[in-house]
Amino acid sequence: MFSHKLQLELAKAAGKHYQLKSEEVEVEPTRDLAHGDLMTNLALKIASRWGVPVKEAAQTIIEELKQSGLVTNLCQRVEVAGPGFINFWLKPAVLIRHLSEAAQIKKFTLFKGKRILVEYSSPNIAKPMHVGHIRSTIIGAAIANIYQNLGAKVYRLNHLGDWGTQFGKLIAAYKRWGRREAIKRAPIQEMLKLYVRFHEEMKSNPELETEGQREFLNLEKGNRQNKALWNWFKRESLREFNAIYKRLGVSFSHVVGESYYEPMLKNLVAELQRKKLAVKNQDGSVVVHLTAESLPPCLVQKSDGGSLYATRDLAAIRFRIKRFRPDKVLYVVGNEQSLHFDQVFTIAKLAGYVGNTELKHIKYGLILGEDGQKLATREGKIIPLVEVLDKAKEMAYKIVQAKNPGLPAKIKDKIAEVVGVGAVKYNDLSQNRHTDITFDWGKMLSLEGNSAPYLIYTYVRLKSVLKKANSIKVSKPSVAALELVNSHDLLLLRTIMRYSEFLQRAALDNAPHILAGYLYELTNQINTFYHASPVVKADHGLRSLRLELVKSASEVLKQGLGILGLETVEQM
Ligand code: ARG
Repeated sequence: MFSHKLQLELAKAAGKHYQLKSEEVEVEPTRDLAHGDLMTNLALKIASRWGVPVKEAAQTIIEELKQSGLVTNLCQRVEVAGPGFINFWLKPAVLIRHLSEAAQIKKFTLFKGKRILVEYSSPNIAKPMHVGHIRSTIIGAAIANIYQNLGAKVYRLNHLGDWGTQFGKLIAAYKRWGRREAIKRAPIQEMLKLYVRFHEEMKSNPELETEGQREFLNLEKGNRQNKALWNWFKRESLREFNAIYKRLGVSFSHVVGESYYEPMLKNLVAELQRKKLAVKNQDGSVVVHLTAESLPPCLVQKSDGGSLYATRDLAAIRFRIKRFRPDKVLYVVGNEQSLHFDQVFTIAKLAGYVGNTELKHIKYGLILGEDGQKLATREGKIIPLVEVLDKAKEMAYKIVQAKNPGLPAKIKDKIAEVVGVGAVKYNDLSQNRHTDITFDWGKMLSLEGNSAPYLIYTYVRLKSVLKKANSIKVSKPSVAALELVNSHDLLLLRTIMRYSEFLQRAALDNAPHILAGYLYELTNQINTFYHASPVVKADHGLRSLRLELVKSASEVLKQGLGILGLETVEQM
């Protein structure tokens, strides 16, 4: 909320002495309120670029800032700290005046006018979603929400894997052994069985390989029966995926399979050849050499003329940039596809498809079990997400049962679903996506510590304070109340007012865990405040202020959790 104002003033101040673009000036929330509310590394930047001593650069800037009326009005203290950061302490009076705006997203405009495309989930049809797809779904939806709440126009894409030779095999297998009823009953499980059996029998019957290829060729040529089967496999798979999305509360604006790009590929490959980017090999396959970019070569057409995953991604880039004119395209896909995206992005740029659009692979690691091993499996198979969610719900039910046994069973069930699903999502979103994360049932469903139940329960408490205060007439908190506040009131006030700054940080780093970390810190401050000070029973001036703190904190908590994709409940 205030960083933007400071950023402009800093750019002005520094601009008098150094040639800097205003985008180069960064202001961000301090790690710890003991070091002020906001900070900038501007002096460090100047020092390294122009070889001035840091302290000198910082002093020059601070002297200039003293002339700025805005900074004097906004800050009570400006100080150089550590290796050369400039820290800003905002005036509590200013914070109080803006307190009721803490969660007003209309005021959040960092990405206003920007068009952002976020691609997430992207499972393969006829196959179960694996942990990677689940992480992509949860992280991607949160990132999309973050940008949307900062004013961007967001497109949510699901790039379904619905093309490739494996579908020829599936069609062949279905024609041999498939039963309509069995697929209707458990679509993905049954299709997977057919596919696995096909591979099994291929070992003793190599003919099957050709049979699969033939069926795929027919599918490519538009054979009616094969097309109908393939469409049906797709529909049945989506039915299952949609049930998962529904339970996770996730949605998309565009669900487009890889097959959509198929008709564009011949042209694209020819164009890459014309542009001298791609060359034909002896065997007829087509490849792009990326030696100059220090990347391995990328095949864009098979020797039989068939297309590849990378070719379809290239066509998707070209198509999306024309169609959506996005400022950014974010691909939320696991670490293991880094090389693929390096290659595809590089080729797209060389081919001139990209323009000013930023293409970015939003990577993430694995989920490890409590023992640090790959996530617990049952008979060597990954436990289906539904079972994970059901178990989380069951554990959450026990929490509700212990807290509030008198609630009707139906309500307890609803609360358990919100808290249980929330716990699984929050576990993912609260950890840095770059590293492998752990899956610890106890931690995830604990009422204390960095967990969804703790945050949601704290929200419930705030709501119950507000309910109690409902009958009291409250006036707008006055700046005069500042005379009465204690250090916990002040810390909570300052924490609440940092919300939008962390939301921005989370967007700039595409890192939901920054928002989650902030919400956890807020929750801790709320609890300290709550234990230290009476709210409803406080004296009038102070009571208005504290109630306003409770109200704003509850709004920020609800909104922040909502952006991460977590629902809240009103009782627990
Ligand atoms: N369907 C792919 C998989 O499961 C992920 C797709 C990622 N997105 C992309 N544009 N390549 O591995």
